[in-house]
Amino acid sequence: MSSAASMQLIHTTYIVSVVLFILAIKWLSSPTTAKRGVLSGEIAAALALAATLADPEVHEYKWIVVALVVGAGVGIPLGMVKITAVPQRTALSHAFGALSASLIGIAEYYVGIPRLTHFGMGEIGLEVVIGSLTFTGSLIAAAKLQEIKFIPQRPVVYKGQNIVSLSVLAVAVLLIIALVINPEQPYLFPIMVVISLVFGVLLVTPIGGADMPTVISLLNSYAGFTAALLGFVLNSKVLVVAGALDGSSGFILSVIMCKAMNRSFTNVMFGAFGQVQTSGAAAQETRTVRSASPEEAAEILAAASKVVVVPGYGMAVAQAQHKVRELFDNLTKKGVEVTFGIHPVAGRMPGHMNVLLAEADIPYDRLKEMDDVNSELPQTDVALVIGANDVTNPAARTDPGSPIYGMPILDVDKARTVMVIKRSMNPGFAGIDNPLYYFDKTLMLFGDAKGFVGDIVRELSGNSSH
Ligand code: TAP
Repeated sequence: MSSAASMQLIHTTYIVSVVLFILAIKWLSSPTTAKRGVLSGEIAAALALAATLADPEVHEYKWIVVALVVGAGVGIPLGMVKITAVPQRTALSHAFGALSASLIGIAEYYVGIPRLTHFGMGEIGLEVVIGSLTFTGSLIAAAKLQEIKFIPQRPVVYKGQNIVSLSVLAVAVLLIIALVINPEQPYLFPIMVVISLVFGVLLVTPIGGADMPTVISLLNSYAGFTAALLGFVLNSKVLVVAGALDGSSGFILSVIMCKAMNRSFTNVMFGAFGQVQTSGAAAQETRTVRSASPEEAAEILAAASKVVVVPGYGMAVAQAQHKVRELFDNLTKKGVEVTFGIHPVAGRMPGHMNVLLAEADIPYDRLKEMDDVNSELPQTDVALVIGANDVTNPAARTDPGSPIYGMPILDVDKARTVMVIKRSMNPGFAGIDNPLYYFDKTLMLFGDAKGFVGDIVRELSGNSSH
């Protein structure tokens, strides 16, 4: 094939790849087409990679093969983590993506110094700053989500924090400006990189556990924008488009999540919304809770006419969704109306509960979003909370000192009776006590979600055979 024909083929492949990336984003927006979206994104990435490798500018494949082998060696085990570990895995993907983009930007700077234009320097500077802060920010986010001991999950805040963080960012921006004015200052470049790395840490440490979902989607968008900027640096149109799609969709998701969680978007962007919890945990320890057995729980459920099930992270850990399906079938057969209340951040990733309940074939029309279910809860006989905690914590409505104050919750405390399946009085992801458990109308069902729901189903089946 002539070189002009092969270049045409390469460009056509890039265009097909871009179209498939756009379709992937479109299809990923609905659960019914999401699988097609994943496949389309995979084919798009494979085509872009093949076209890039076929480019005549690539003279040697040795180091590319080494990188592919090392990347696959790390990526394959990372891709096989449990579904509950997907958020931290995603944070690590953002970290690695941003690191590689930063390293390429750094190499482009040192290779290109003698002929760098002011504009080209601006592109590299922005790309390396955003990439570096995304790298360390994502590592901190992954460590918080993995509950690594020496990285506190609670918001780490101190007086004057915003000023410190914004000053560090300002220094990084000033360094970009200095380098744009005169790119030939190679000693300034590493200082800019280190300051950006520090800013990434400052950005994420003040953010508490319950607010991590928004941070993850924001870091996703930063990683996408880094890739788009790298596309400008390398003059790769497909990277510009793919990065811009990733960056803008992550950005839109962050705004949607901030709205859903009643958080200020500016605060998330600058890592400034951590608050110290002021409510006293010690006072709560002296309060008592009421607990019940599977038999009692089954009796209450069988006598109800309307039950709302609220699943959370504990249902995912216990893999209790199939038992929950049995409970749903059993109660429905007895004439009880059962619906599921889905909080947008229940579990550890967007759509986590929808995925699990769909896997157990629970009809999609039984799943209700937060606003719909909240208007029904006051007329509900039993709210059955299965391994959810933070998303039902009334302190979000009533305690201005709580780190989750202002976050919309599922108002299960408005149902006539609340039953909560969990193993202990331990807190949820935000690390805070839940006053719901001490209410007179609340019954604690202590046990593993799968085992306890299984026991309730056995009791219900036993009752129906009498
Ligand atoms: P959490 O508040 O994390 O509470 C889960 C509860 O499940 C825990 O209190 C735990 O209590 C219980 N549990 C754990 N294993 C269990 C098992 N085997 N059987 C029964 N119960 C079990 O969960 P949530 O209410 O779903 O809230 C999600 C939290 O994660 C929010 O703070 C949210 O902001 C955060 N987050 C969400 C996302 C997304 S996008 N969804 C991403 C990152 C973080 P015991 O230990 O006593 O059993």
